[in-house]
Amino acid sequence: MKTILAIETSCDDTSAAIIQDGWLLSNVTANQDVHKKYGGVVPELASRAHQANIVPVVDLAIKNANLTISDIDAIAFTRGPGLLGSLLVGISFAKGFALANNIPLIDVNHLHGHVSALFLKEKGVKHTSPKFPFITLLVSGGHSQLIVVKSFFDKEIIGETIDDAAGEAFDKSAKIMGLPYPGGPLIDKYAKLGNPHAYKFTKPKVGDLQYSFSGLKTAILYFIRDEVKKNPNFIKENLNDLCASIQFTIIDILVDKLKNAIKKTGIKEVAIAGGVSANSGLRERLKDEANKNNWVLHIPEFKFTTDNAAMIAITAYHKFLNNDFTSQSAVADARLKEI
Ligand code: KG4
Ligand code: ZN
Repeated sequence: MKTILAIETSCDDTSAAIIQDGWLLSNVTANQDVHKKYGGVVPELASRAHQANIVPVVDLAIKNANLTISDIDAIAFTRGPGLLGSLLVGISFAKGFALANNIPLIDVNHLHGHVSALFLKEKGVKHTSPKFPFITLLVSGGHSQLIVVKSFFDKEIIGETIDDAAGEAFDKSAKIMGLPYPGGPLIDKYAKLGNPHAYKFTKPKVGDLQYSFSGLKTAILYFIRDEVKKNPNFIKENLNDLCASIQFTIIDILVDKLKNAIKKTGIKEVAIAGGVSANSGLRERLKDEANKNNWVLHIPEFKFTTDNAAMIAITAYHKFLNNDFTSQSAVADARLKEI
């Protein structure tokens, strides 16, 4: 039996999970509310909160799995990309835990983790993993990428953003409207009550497989600024329509390029991953497109879309099977590339 404890601390969620022979046994995440009033993640506060949270979160993950420390065969951690101070808390904890218990260490790329979330299995929960090769639209707070996943360890990024990520487009738009961080889930909530065609924002003109969101953010900023000059209550009176229209535009941009990628590669096995894949509008739109175009669509379970250690655990499990371990000299890498 192979039992792995995984730690995820790349941004503002402290998470620990346990996977045994490929089955997820527990997944515990402590969110950090401390950033809400600052309109974004404050790195210093994030690492301090990780330090406070990590021991109780790991403790609970082990308890929820009905295991004890001596049952754990390896410990995995997120090496990057992410905030350096946050990564350091997880990696230091993992190294200490490995040394104290004389077990090996496994390092995981956070983005690889998001893609691997599509393979997470829990006993008693129906699940179908994507078949290789498949295309993943990976959309998070830091990344927007189109990836051809050829096997568990062979991935090719065929398109990505040239500026902001899709999650940033949601969060920055929300900030312009005075909503707290992270604004993505709030835009999703209000969009359900609004008209997606109330306001029209132009889509960027970039390459077939490229994303760009910074122009949209500026367009929203100027549009709202001008409307507020005419009517100081503009945002309040039109919040639902604003959210629905902004969300519609972001989704349209995401889906356009995904369609290009499918056309170019001929691959109709399609998946989404990352925090923005929690968006209900994006999920519905992709289900429609999949029906129309005969795609086989894979959407991760809602709880595995935003940052969590379960996705790090499943990636680590496959690395364990490959005997792919790291050492005490491993270093955190805030800009870790190869996925
Ligand atoms: O994957 P994630 O948890 O962290 C990163 O690796 O970045 O993604 C966080 C991002 C944030 O920008 C957040 O606003 C966005 O995912 N997000 C959403 C939704 N839930 C989370 N965006 C739109 N709709 C949602 N329901
Ligand atoms: Zn993430």
